[in-house]
Amino acid sequence: MTAGEYKKASLRYKELVEAELDRIFRGPARDVYPRLREAMFYSIEAGGKRIRPCLLLAVCEMLGGDAASALPFACGLEMIHTYSLIHDDLPCMDDDDMRRGRPSNHRVFGEAMAVLAGDGLLSFAFETMLAAALKSGSRGCLEAVSEIADRAGARGMVTGQAADLECEGEGIKTEEMLRFIHRHKTADMLEAAVISGARIAGADDGTVAKLRRYSESMGLLFQITDDILDMTGDPELMGKTLGKDAEADKLTYAVLLGLDGARDAARQAAEAAKAALDGIPDADYLIATVDNMLTRSN
Ligand code: IPE
Ligand code: IPE
Ligand code: MG
Ligand code: MG
Ligand code: MG
Repeated sequence: MTAGEYKKASLRYKELVEAELDRIFRGPARDVYPRLREAMFYSIEAGGKRIRPCLLLAVCEMLGGDAASALPFACGLEMIHTYSLIHDDLPCMDDDDMRRGRPSNHRVFGEAMAVLAGDGLLSFAFETMLAAALKSGSRGCLEAVSEIADRAGARGMVTGQAADLECEGEGIKTEEMLRFIHRHKTADMLEAAVISGARIAGADDGTVAKLRRYSESMGLLFQITDDILDMTGDPELMGKTLGKDAEADKLTYAVLLGLDGARDAARQAAEAAKAALDGIPDADYLIATVDNMLTRSN
């Protein structure tokens, strides 16, 4: 798949997800208290790369599933990711003023409403996904929700955020700790995307195991490039404040290995991600996602 074909396929997935998010916020979310709904939708409609919902839909289609029936799960996952960003930006966490090219949620709605917007998105995500799973009557859809709950929750992304936060206060840690943090705060949500897409399509255990290895390496690659871009990226393109890791004296791959070393580590993670796909037919989009990740500027 060429870079142009990858862009085109991603745009199609992105448009499907954004139209469905729009529909959900105009329809099922209309009973949400108006200011809360506004705060929730503010961060959702701000955009972002939508990499997780795109991966979910792509994996589902790759394995013979139907993108339309996977859409509520893709939207739910994006709601959870968006909640994690709203909370990540709060003054008590990373204290970031910009996100997705706009003032961060608490800068517009205040801290208390930003906390509630995150809470609202997290629970509304599960409402959306479980309603779709119950309607479908499919075990694969319920397995997808279970996977997302595991990977996003206390043993997954939230564990990564907690470890990340603690390490900030305690200073430099080992590469092992760094891997643990990346694994959970970033890779878990990518794994949720890939595996839930596979579950909805009814994938077999062998395929799921390969896809888990792919996600783990993709997650590592994704966070290494996030850390490199925090040092070297263009804030306009990234849509968020950069240089925050250095300001917080955070140990990242770019600090531990130097920029060149971190770029090598990113290339190795990219190779490992591609190797994990060996034997899975039609994995072009997943391979192109790796290449795009390696060269991304936002
Ligand atoms: C940012 O995620 C948080 C990390 C896990 C590094 P993204 O870079 O996917 O953010 P959006 O969704 O494009 O805004
Ligand atoms: C945040 O990691 C990851 C999650 C929100 C789970 P970062 O703190 O590095 O993300 P950015 O750089 O603010 O997007
Ligand atoms: Mg953070
Ligand atoms: Mg942050
Ligand atoms: Mg970062």
